[in-house]
Amino acid sequence: MTGYRERIQEQLGLLNMLNASGLNTYGSEVSSGCGPTMRVEGRECINFISNSYMGFSVHPKVVEAARQALLDYGLGIGGSPLACGTTTWHVKLAERIAHNYGKESAAIFSTGYQALAGTIQGLMGRKDVALLDNLAHRSIIDGCILSGCKIRSFIHNDMNDFEQLVQRTSKQEGHRMVIVDSVYSMDGDVAPLPRVRAICKAAGVTVMIDEAHSLGVMGSNGRGLLEHFDMPDGAEIISGTFSKFAGAVGGFTAAERDVIQYLRHYSSPFVYSASMPPAVVAAVYTSFELLESEPEWHQRLWDNVNFMHKSLKELGFDTGDSTTPVIPVMIRDTEKTLRMNRTLLDRGVYASPVVHPGVPLKKERIRLGIMATHTRKHLDRALNIFQEVGREFEVI
Ligand SMILES: Cc1ncc(COP(=O)(O)O)c(C=O)c1O
Repeated sequence: MTGYRERIQEQLGLLNMLNASGLNTYGSEVSSGCGPTMRVEGRECINFISNSYMGFSVHPKVVEAARQALLDYGLGIGGSPLACGTTTWHVKLAERIAHNYGKESAAIFSTGYQALAGTIQGLMGRKDVALLDNLAHRSIIDGCILSGCKIRSFIHNDMNDFEQLVQRTSKQEGHRMVIVDSVYSMDGDVAPLPRVRAICKAAGVTVMIDEAHSLGVMGSNGRGLLEHFDMPDGAEIISGTFSKFAGAVGGFTAAERDVIQYLRHYSSPFVYSASMPPAVVAAVYTSFELLESEPEWHQRLWDNVNFMHKSLKELGFDTGDSTTPVIPVMIRDTEKTLRMNRTLLDRGVYASPVVHPGVPLKKERIRLGIMATHTRKHLDRALNIFQEVGREFEVI
């Protein structure tokens, strides 16, 4: 019989090799806040690793809101939302989320992962069927596993395959729910919600969307995918996170009042985990206010996104189907991806190498997250370094 030590040896061997060769840039020590540049391993680098697309986590108004709430409430409440963890700030933030999506109510979870996993765990049962895009985020898959529901997948963003899956599962007992990421976290492409919605409406399938990389980004005011497609009724269940546009931590689900009331009492990750610290909730609430009071950040984000898409393509890089601040620079080789990323970091560009099992083999890439606070000077400098390193590695 093999124990856990034997089981982890193989993976550890690989990690030790990466560490010894200096190629492991995962979890590098950062000694600054999350601005357009960050101090990594003691060196100032242009920041493309974060999902803090708006750069709000270091905005003075956000920091001040957190400071004030910290003085008012202290560090934490010491309990789950159901026990004592629902402060006035949690109530205000939940109302703000519900309003953002035109839903009756919302629940605040401690992380985005818990919001996705906990909502699916709460709403799905053993007889039910989850219809998942094959690039669905891990929190969605884990929610299905927690619920014990059946999982059926369709080819990424392929609506013919999805329609066939809906037909094939039409005789299943229990209810069916499709769960799609509004923006895919590793590819930066967008779920075709109008088609998803139309297929589901005809077949009586519930639609749930994961707004993680969409809230604050998509739509003319950053209200997310429903605003982007002008589909106020585009999904019954909407979950997401505060770790991307707000650069904080925490998650949410917005839906009908009864659904939220139910999740607050029966979703395990909601019930059995301490609530978000009030200072973080106040900071996230302020980030929402900034979307309205300082809309120039949203404009700057999209100016930067469009500039980077165009420039990387002109240099000859393959950026897949992305149209958003998540830009994959396709390398399609594990070792080359890790080596190139280390070289970029050594020259002052901090990005994420994404290799198997994060993405399929031959789809390895360096992932960039574009920020509203990047200046043209940051981007020009990064593009020069990309060009230099891309040529050295014969990627362009
Ligand atoms: C698409 C997607 N959904 C959910 C999550 C989970 O969010 P969080 O990291 O805030 O827990 C993430 C974060 O990696 C994500 O990319």
